[in-house]
Amino acid sequence: MNTGAGEQVLKYIEMLAQISEEDDKLTRLSLTEQHRQANALVGKLMESIGMQVRTDAIGNITGRLQGSSDQRALLLGSHLDSVRDAGKFDGPLGVIAPIVCMESLKAEGIALPYSIEIIGFCDEEGVRFPSTLLGSRALAGTLDPAVLQERDTDDISIASALESFGQNPTDIKTAQRKPDDFLGFVEVHIEQGPVLEKENLPVGLVTAISGAARYTITVTGMAGHAGTVPMGLRKDALVAASECIVEIEQICQSYNNVVGTVGTIQSMPGAGNVIPGQVEFSLDLRSSDDSTRTDAEQQIYQSIEAITLKRQLTFDIQKTYEAAGVTCDQWLSNQLGSAIQNAGYSLCALPSGAGHDAMAIADLTRVAMLFVRCTDGISHHPDEHITVEDAEAAVQVLKHLLVKFQPHADKS
Ligand code: GLV
Ligand code: MN
Ligand code: MN
Repeated sequence: MNTGAGEQVLKYIEMLAQISEEDDKLTRLSLTEQHRQANALVGKLMESIGMQVRTDAIGNITGRLQGSSDQRALLLGSHLDSVRDAGKFDGPLGVIAPIVCMESLKAEGIALPYSIEIIGFCDEEGVRFPSTLLGSRALAGTLDPAVLQERDTDDISIASALESFGQNPTDIKTAQRKPDDFLGFVEVHIEQGPVLEKENLPVGLVTAISGAARYTITVTGMAGHAGTVPMGLRKDALVAASECIVEIEQICQSYNNVVGTVGTIQSMPGAGNVIPGQVEFSLDLRSSDDSTRTDAEQQIYQSIEAITLKRQLTFDIQKTYEAAGVTCDQWLSNQLGSAIQNAGYSLCALPSGAGHDAMAIADLTRVAMLFVRCTDGISHHPDEHITVEDAEAAVQVLKHLLVKFQPHADKS
């Protein structure tokens, strides 16, 4: 089926992609001038479908359409910030697809009995400030106000960025919403991986979002002269770190649901003729099962200890971030799964290895997620892409969900 909704999604996403701090790359960080422009554009689109639009105290933009008989809202949305040199779809797809779906319902004269809110969260990527999920955690009431003192690389705190954005940081608690406000939260997101493409399906149902932890690992040996210290007498931190990194890969491969990534490495003092004395590297460790992730973490700690002991070096491991995994709500996922099938697609259930706003919103209301096929599985990269046909499929699935949606008997 082609109703033109896919083209409309891609058109709006292209408009959002023009809002960037760099001319030839898409970089849109939270609480910046570009974020303000993205909110303004999304706000206009929301108004054109009759939504009441407001920006909350953390900078999320929300549009609300009152239901004919139920004040409570089904919340739909995702984030409007991006990584550096980003793709166009990670985040914006989850805001634009619901807007296009509501445009289509409006054009068909379909009014829903319950309320709809569409939200563009201010920060999911955690690129500008050390913290992440600022908007969704503020909505859920789990954002510690102390976080507002964190600073970006220009030494601007979140509190002062909020002031420049036109918000009062002392009002942050007013962004918090009540569980009774909502019937649930559905996030549409590009898959960011290859599974749906391999399954030859445009959309999939997310079962769970992986928990994640990040670490800074330091291996300390002894710097020395590259020409004079015999191979057997060295304490080369880079060789030891390399052995640790290969071991991390092997440990992660020994599980079927753990992924580990060393994304940065710094060798000190950093000269071609000096034996590296100290190496610092990052580790990002994720799993759909928190206890498996903790188990892998223990194995990694033990192997780093064994490798550095064998080589008579020392090590230090700092955990800098940890978020538990979230299982999507069965009742809401059943409705989303039925919508996928009613739209004519086979049901493919898959976990998410990436983090999403739904992780934080799970503390507020029931969450479900719809993944949309990602060309070549490429994401966090300018080549990130979805087809117009798959954008159409996502809108059709949402339409089936909204038209048939039954609020939960337990109220929240
Ligand atoms: C966000 O994109 C993450 O999963 O790191
Ligand atoms: Mn995202
Ligand atoms: Mn992302």
